[in-house]
Amino acid sequence: MSGDRPSKVTEVSLSSFKRPTLVEVKGVTMVDNIEENWDSLWAFQAKPDDLLICTYPKAGTTWMQEIVDILQHGGDPGKCAQVPIFHRIPFLEKFQFSPTGLEELEAMPSPRIIKTHLPVQLLPPSFWEQNCKMIYVARNGKDTAVSYFHFHRMNHSLPEPTSWNQFLEDFLAGKIAWGSWFDHVRGWWDAKGRHPILYVFYEDMKENPAREIQRVAQFLGLELTESILNQIVQHTKFENMKKNPLTNYTAKPRYAMDHTVSPFMRKGTTGDWKEHFTVAQSEQLDNICDHLLGGSGLTFRTVL
Ligand code: A3P
Repeated sequence: MSGDRPSKVTEVSLSSFKRPTLVEVKGVTMVDNIEENWDSLWAFQAKPDDLLICTYPKAGTTWMQEIVDILQHGGDPGKCAQVPIFHRIPFLEKFQFSPTGLEELEAMPSPRIIKTHLPVQLLPPSFWEQNCKMIYVARNGKDTAVSYFHFHRMNHSLPEPTSWNQFLEDFLAGKIAWGSWFDHVRGWWDAKGRHPILYVFYEDMKENPAREIQRVAQFLGLELTESILNQIVQHTKFENMKKNPLTNYTAKPRYAMDHTVSPFMRKGTTGDWKEHFTVAQSEQLDNICDHLLGGSGLTFRTVL
């Protein structure tokens, strides 16, 4: 069979895979399978040495996951388990993909590193009670919206978008999976004053990855030599993560993510939004930012 032709299994899986619909959980828009399992998620028992990587989708989660995993392994990528990043650092809302996801997470040996996209008010209370460390990555709303639009196109565990204009309208209204970007970035920003949360910007990581990796290391209480730091910077460069099958999500089956529609590692830049936004759309997002983030001290760079 030609390499380009899908196998019978893939054809069957593609046709039988049903994209989720959107529902509300405590006023936040979510995919339906998260709502169905909400009670078990809310009851999740965190441990004091759990480390949480929190983001709104498309903020650079995978990039931070890879950095943290290497840092926790003495700076040597070779010492990390040689499995895809989504197995090394599982997704708290992972039962979205696997019915036994939460049980697997509960059984993971400590210290656990866990990823979540939950907005601050929906994080299971035990994470606050156990005073777990958290790293939050935020990315400017314009690039986030563009990245999320293309992700919806290729990722079958999200609703299929109709058009960019409609998607952006829903994004601005917070009527998409994991809710309002504005509330998300602001909620976690406000929480950092009362909890051990390291707030990192994607744009800062692009501008000076070594500086931001150092900040993460310090937050984790780790010391880095110059050469290990350089090694981590090289290993986690966009071009290297894009060709690394353990970080580029090509390990997911095609019925879940179709990289021929749009690759997971798409552009990895700041400013790609200019290729998608009209002037009016850009002004609209700026105005909502002024309104919803104003007075918080939280600002974003949309160009570098
Ligand atoms: P683009 O779609 O703009 O390219 P997440 O991991 O939260 O889903 O975020 C994915 C976004 O982060 C994608 O953005 C992806 O290309 C970008 N990204 C992933 N690894 C990166 C890296 N090492 N450097 C810069 N951007 C990266």
